[in-house]
Amino acid sequence: MGLVSAKEMLNKAVAGGYAVGHFNINNLEWTKAILQTAQELQSPVILGVSEGAAKYMCGYTTVASMVKAMLEELNITVPVALHLDHGTYEGAKKAIAAGFSSIQYDGGHAPIEENLQKTAEFVKICEEKGLSLEAEVGSIGGEEDGVIGAGELADPVQCKTIADLGITMLAAGIGNIHGKYPANWQGLNFEVLSQIHNACSGKPLVLHGGTGIPADMVKKAISLGVAKVNVNTECQLAFAAATRKYIEEGKDEQGKGYDPRKLLAPGFQAIKDTVKEKMELFGSIGKA
Ligand code: 13P
Repeated sequence: MGLVSAKEMLNKAVAGGYAVGHFNINNLEWTKAILQTAQELQSPVILGVSEGAAKYMCGYTTVASMVKAMLEELNITVPVALHLDHGTYEGAKKAIAAGFSSIQYDGGHAPIEENLQKTAEFVKICEEKGLSLEAEVGSIGGEEDGVIGAGELADPVQCKTIADLGITMLAAGIGNIHGKYPANWQGLNFEVLSQIHNACSGKPLVLHGGTGIPADMVKKAISLGVAKVNVNTECQLAFAAATRKYIEEGKDEQGKGYDPRKLLAPGFQAIKDTVKEKMELFGSIGKA
């Protein structure tokens, strides 16, 4: 199966009371680890690509070509969406042209009128091309690839206005933060989440900053309409820890332990384990 829009998988997730994982990719190993895990567990999956990661991987066309080829070569049959994460206006247009199947246009930092106008433009483009579209209201806290948010809480009225434009899914700040959560973090704001859920009448909601949110909070968020959970930092931490262990144990100096296929293997497995753990928590296993 080639790339698909995230629309059907997310609507099914809302109906079934589970969420689909969005896992950010950074290179070939990352992509392969996530796709193989999704296939083994028969789970739908969304591959997230930030603009910084796309640049690192030599551009949107390189990323789209790599992912499409991997679906074929690895015989991936579960639904896979290739999604631009926190896209700018220009970045979203480039990712669409390169063949991404899902787009986030993140106008959360712009004045609401501009956000609405540009989101409406992408609704039209994505509808014509059969792509899914994520919109954002109120920036998500923390820092990701130079994008800094202030941990805002979205306004449910604005959420309804943007949801009514015809988007596929909505990211709305509910106290979530990208990266590691500080020790004094207040937790997710479920009151705001349920107001947004009610205002947007069943529209799939997106929880950014999936790293480090306690399991009970994630489950409660899913019960209140979250159908997509974004995870990035947790895979990076798992990869880094496993790679550090390999080197600290001197394994790169034993035999041909310096071969990148050996050196990167523990990190690769650590990403697989993390993705599996998240898919179990989100309830998406067996839902392909
Ligand atoms: P984390 O890095 O905190 O997991 O957040 C990922 C994310 O929200 C991507 O948009």
